[in-house]
Amino acid sequence: MGVGKSSVARALGRKLGARVVDLDAEVESRVGASIASIFAERGEAAFRQIERETVRELGESWGGAEQPTVVALGGGTVTDRATRRMLLEQGVLVTLSAPADELAARVGEGRGRPLLAGSQESPSNVLSRIVAERADAYAECHRWIDTSHRTVDEVADEVREVAAEQPVVVPLGTRSYRVEVGAGIRDRVGVRACEAASGAQALVVRDEHVARPWGQQIGEALEAVGHAVDSVTLPPGEEHKNLSSVEAVWDRALELGMGRDGLVVAVGGGVVGDVAGFAASTLLRGVALAQVPTTLLAMVDSSVGGKTGFNRDQGKNLIGTFHQPRFVLCDVETLETLPQPERTAALAEVVKSAWLQGPEAVAMLERDAPALVQGDPEATIRAIRMAVRLKARVVTADERESGTRMLLNLGHTVGHALEAARGYRGLRHGDAVALGMVAAFRVSRELGIAGPAEQDRVERLLGALGLPTDLDDSLDVRATPYLYADKKRRGGQLHFVVPAGPGSTRIEPVQAEWLQRVLTA
Ligand SMILES: NC(=O)c1ccc[n+]([C@@H]2O[C@H](COP(=O)([O-])OP(=O)(O)OC[C@H]3O[C@@H](n4cnc5c(N)ncnc54)[C@H](O)[C@@H]3O)[C@@H](O)[C@H]2O)c1
Repeated sequence: MGVGKSSVARALGRKLGARVVDLDAEVESRVGASIASIFAERGEAAFRQIERETVRELGESWGGAEQPTVVALGGGTVTDRATRRMLLEQGVLVTLSAPADELAARVGEGRGRPLLAGSQESPSNVLSRIVAERADAYAECHRWIDTSHRTVDEVADEVREVAAEQPVVVPLGTRSYRVEVGAGIRDRVGVRACEAASGAQALVVRDEHVARPWGQQIGEALEAVGHAVDSVTLPPGEEHKNLSSVEAVWDRALELGMGRDGLVVAVGGGVVGDVAGFAASTLLRGVALAQVPTTLLAMVDSSVGGKTGFNRDQGKNLIGTFHQPRFVLCDVETLETLPQPERTAALAEVVKSAWLQGPEAVAMLERDAPALVQGDPEATIRAIRMAVRLKARVVTADERESGTRMLLNLGHTVGHALEAARGYRGLRHGDAVALGMVAAFRVSRELGIAGPAEQDRVERLLGALGLPTDLDDSLDVRATPYLYADKKRRGGQLHFVVPAGPGSTRIEPVQAEWLQRVLTA
């Protein structure tokens, strides 16, 4: 209220040549009554219902529209979770803010503002209370812009910049964060670090393969905004995803006297991200974490979702925490130094994501397959965005993996068994996931869910991306006992992720013995 959304929307509309809709005005014209009288006569709940339907109808016309639409929302519109999620997925949602005193000065006595009218409290107090009550909803946005001391034009320019970039939001209330994907965006780490943590101390965690040039450049970008930067360089590889690596991060941070306002920045693949994330989550009971992934796998998977951890002799990822990053920057330029086999293996997770996402995502990958194999930046950015969007949606629905997040394990039950049988040597995780997906389709067909056309389609796509599909050559008696050790096993049954067509994967209970028979028949 009073933040200037209508003026910013008009300015933005002019800049974009876009249609501008003021939601309050739209509601008033549909109902034929003022907002104040709808509130007074029908109550807030009825008003929100009308507002929700109006947004839905506006949203339906966005898909495929050539001209963008700028909508100045009512301040309470996004308090409706379903409306907010729709806006986040289908549009670009920006929260404008200003200090309560400034807002109060702008709205005066609040005439025509139903939430202020008739209150005994000062407008400034009412506005502070409303903002506090709506903190979770307002934080779920593509960008939060403080409008104080800025002109309408400047704010509109910033909104336009966000709209052009379309970061992916992981909406988790006040713990929400954004995943930015692009070429040459790593320098933004400085600005984002200032927004994310109040302190000016940063610890960059990287491994020997990325220390130069990427780790060093990230350190320099942080120093450029005035941070005191130190770094830890871990030995590379899965075998170093252990307690010693975690200790190296803990000790360096403690030696530096890092406070709870410090920031740990993970620059590297999934190993660095998981180790740095675990260390950050436990240091001083939790300091801020940023992820700057430099492998395709870390970009499409491990940097998003908040799982951290390390391995023990008894198995992989057995010790861990959930600790969401404050921001994620995926700069595809960092993939220029990544060995080709690492890149190819990560494409298995991309196929998995597309299959979970739906027909459009699968068709996009089929079209982009040759470009992805060549390492084309645009195709890579499209694939990463698709996978991150899917992961953001699943993580939001089930942050701690009690239900739908398990869908992300498509191909992983058999994949893990294949990796474990080889002692985690000689078979890349991504190759194992590709074979695991082939196995999942075999199981699905046996259950009468997927048909031969779907199985052919996924195998063709995996093959086009250079991934293995020869399950029978890989799955032997050494692997089958490991199926029983799967973490997703419950009550004598395995919860198996069973794919059907694109966008319709589900979880089915299956007996491990039956699974073994089907896979080795
Ligand atoms: N937290 C999660 O949700 C999650 C999800 C999936 C996987 N993971 C974990 O991620 C790990 C696998 O991640 P990964 O595949 O990124 O492996 P990785 O971190 O071991 O990186 C692979 C190799 O590439 C090197 N490297 C990284 N970036 C490079 C670059 N830009 N140029 C040159 N070399 C580079 C690394 O030093 C390493 O040798 C596993 O430990 C897995 O358990 C975690």
